[in-house]
Amino acid sequence: MLLIATPLPAAVGTRALQEFSAAAAPENMTQLVAPEGTRAVLLSSRQRVDAAAVAALPASIGLIATCSVGFDHIDLAACAARGIKVTNTPDVLTDATAEIAMLLILAAARRAREYGQIMDQGWGKAFALNQMLGMQLSGKVLGIVGMGRIGGAVAYRAQAFGMTILYHNRNRLPQDAECGTYCADLDDLLARADVVSLNLPGAGNQPLMTAAQFARMKPGAIFVNTARGGLVDDDALLAALASGHLGGAGLDVFRGEPAFDRRYLDQPRAFLTPHMGSATLDTREAMGHRALDNVAAFLAGRTPADLVTR
Ligand code: DGY
Repeated sequence: MLLIATPLPAAVGTRALQEFSAAAAPENMTQLVAPEGTRAVLLSSRQRVDAAAVAALPASIGLIATCSVGFDHIDLAACAARGIKVTNTPDVLTDATAEIAMLLILAAARRAREYGQIMDQGWGKAFALNQMLGMQLSGKVLGIVGMGRIGGAVAYRAQAFGMTILYHNRNRLPQDAECGTYCADLDDLLARADVVSLNLPGAGNQPLMTAAQFARMKPGAIFVNTARGGLVDDDALLAALASGHLGGAGLDVFRGEPAFDRRYLDQPRAFLTPHMGSATLDTREAMGHRALDNVAAFLAGRTPADLVTR
C-alpha cells in the first residue's frame, strides 16, 4: 500500500513498517516503478519523477510524498493531470540547511579548502602576516536572495556573526526591520553585498546567476548556493572565480547532481559539499516523520498538511 522508495533513518523505517502496510523498493531503483495496488510512494529529491515516470505509475497511486522541502524533481502538472497528490516536508529542515549555509559562508570566506590542503600537505612553512588572508564576516553585508524560511534562518545566524542583511524577495516582508533591508532590485543587492547567498526554490533550468550577475558582484565577494544548482551558470561562476573577481564560492548544490562540473575541483577558492543541507540525524528523522504524517492523513481520507500546489 505504501512504497518506500528511499532509504530512511531507522526510527522512521520502523514506524513506517508498524503503521502502514509498507514495502521497500530495491535500493538501486533509478526509475520509479510501483506495483499495482500501491496507494502512496515515499521518496526523496534524489529521485526524478518526470512525466514518463508519472505515466508509468499504476492507477492505484494517489500520493507522492517527497522527503524534501523542494519539489522541483516532480512533474506537478503530470501528477495533477492524473489526480495524484504531492506533499513535501517544509519547516523541519530549515535549521539544518541554514547551518550548512553558514558552514559554506565561513568556509569560503576563511579559505577553508586551501587551509585544509596546506595541512594535508604537511604545512612545513610558516605564513607571513600578509599571506593567506580571508574575509572577516563581522561588519560585512550578507545579501540573501530568497527570504523564505531558510533565508530567514540564515539571516538570523549571520546577524549573530555581526553581519548586516540585505534581502531580495518576491515580496517585501512585514517584519522587514528584523530580517534586514529589502532590495526590490536583485542587481542592487548584488552590487552592495560582500557575501551573496541563494535561498530560493529552484525553478526550471534557467540560471538566475549568469555572467552579468556575477560581474555586478563586488570584487572579492563570496557566493554561496544551498538552493538548487540549476540557478547558476557554471561557466560564468567558474570564470568569475578563475579571474579572481570573486573571492570564493561555497556550493552544496549542482546542476545535474550527483554529477557536477568537475572544473570546480581545480578552484581552491571553491568549497564544495555534496547536497548535504538537511543531512543531520535530527532533521532526517523529522523529515521522515513529517512525510509519514502526510501519508497517514492521505490513507485515512484526510487532506495532508503539506499538500504542494502550483
Ligand atoms: C530539500 O529538501 O529540498 C533539500 O534540498 C534536500 O533535497
